Amino acid sequence: MNPKNRQWTLARRPQGMLQEEDFAYRETTIPEAALDEGQVLLQNLWLGFDATQREWLKDQEGYLPPVGVGEVVRASSVARVLRSTNPALPEGALVQGLYGWQDYALAHPGDALPPALLPPGVTPEMALAALGGTALTAYFGLVDVGGIAAGQTVVVSAAGGATGSMAVQIAKLRGARVIGIAGGAAKCAWVRGLGAEDCIDYRNEALAERLRTLCPDGIDIAFDNVGGAHLEAMIACIAPRGRVVLCGQIAGYDAQQPPPGPRNLMNLIYRRARMEGFLMLDYLHRTGEAFAELGPWMASGELRWEADVQEGFHRIPQTLLRLFRGENMGKQLLRIDRQEAQP
Ligand SMILES: NC(=O)c1ccc[n+]([C@@H]2O[C@H](COP(=O)([O-])OP(=O)(O)OC[C@H]3O[C@@H](n4cnc5c(N)ncnc54)[C@H](OP(=O)(O)O)[C@@H]3O)[C@@H](O)[C@H]2O)c1
Repeated sequence: MNPKNRQWTLARRPQGMLQEEDFAYRETTIPEAALDEGQVLLQNLWLGFDATQREWLKDQEGYLPPVGVGEVVRASSVARVLRSTNPALPEGALVQGLYGWQDYALAHPGDALPPALLPPGVTPEMALAALGGTALTAYFGLVDVGGIAAGQTVVVSAAGGATGSMAVQIAKLRGARVIGIAGGAAKCAWVRGLGAEDCIDYRNEALAERLRTLCPDGIDIAFDNVGGAHLEAMIACIAPRGRVVLCGQIAGYDAQQPPPGPRNLMNLIYRRARMEGFLMLDYLHRTGEAFAELGPWMASGELRWEADVQEGFHRIPQTLLRLFRGENMGKQLLRIDRQEAQP
């Protein structure tokens, strides 16, 4: 009997905090039609979870079209090529792409985001956690947007997450003094272990006050993943000619209405500071430049990556919720287990 194609689809537009009921499980047949020239049939093995997935579920203009109700939820993954008509993507090869919450998918090198072969020796976890968007986002945010230089003070919010933990380490390796912001004592201890001079537990400490104490000469680069109160506290401490790098606004992703912006933008004027958003996707053509610096740090163990691995197809929706509950340390991944019971 042919295996089924298990899928998680978007059941309804999420309102407020994501819930497991926002997603629906279904089984379909695997796409078995004759493959077009160059096309491949893929079997997903690993899924990556990104805060930006919450934004894709909204009915709004973004940098990618919204996921429609009833459609398979878009997600990054590593998949194995099961059938191929393409010598460049041979059967058995591992590829990375946006193949979503399902077992099987079709892909073609002419797709808007073509399947990317994993280089020899690169495991799925490495590909999704370290070499995926996470490290590139942190790298280009700090280097290109932030203009990082040795000796500067860098503050990173959501410092214990996938992107933040990379930003902490890259800033430190570039010679900066780094302060993290994260939720909970255990996560803060982990962030200090990554090289941050200190880490503020925003759930239990007065964030604005602690930032002022830890950054007496101001923040040269505020690498903000959170927005809201975190952003406002960082703007309050920005150094003369400082840069606020807008990477993400996760505190607002579940909000029904966008929260009001920071109330202290005048401080950017007083300090002649700059605030700039960026998208990692715009830097894909410069991946080689980033890997030239990141690769040796990874090989030497100076740049570490941590993956928080969940198991099982039935756990997919609840695994996305972990990001918004702050339950993940490092990159949130899930290994698809073929033997498990169905939901
Ligand atoms: N601009 C780009 O191209 C780009 C690319 C990738 C990611 N991003 C952004 O980077 C940020 C991190 O994304 P990620 O995928 O790497 O996720 P992640 O950091 O691994 O996970 C999200 C973390 O955010 C923190 N968080 C969640 N809700 C929060 C809240 N209300 N207030 C404060 N902190 C909260 C949680 O940590 P705590 O336990 O510390 O609360 C959680 O672990 C997101 O804003 C994302 O949109 C941007």
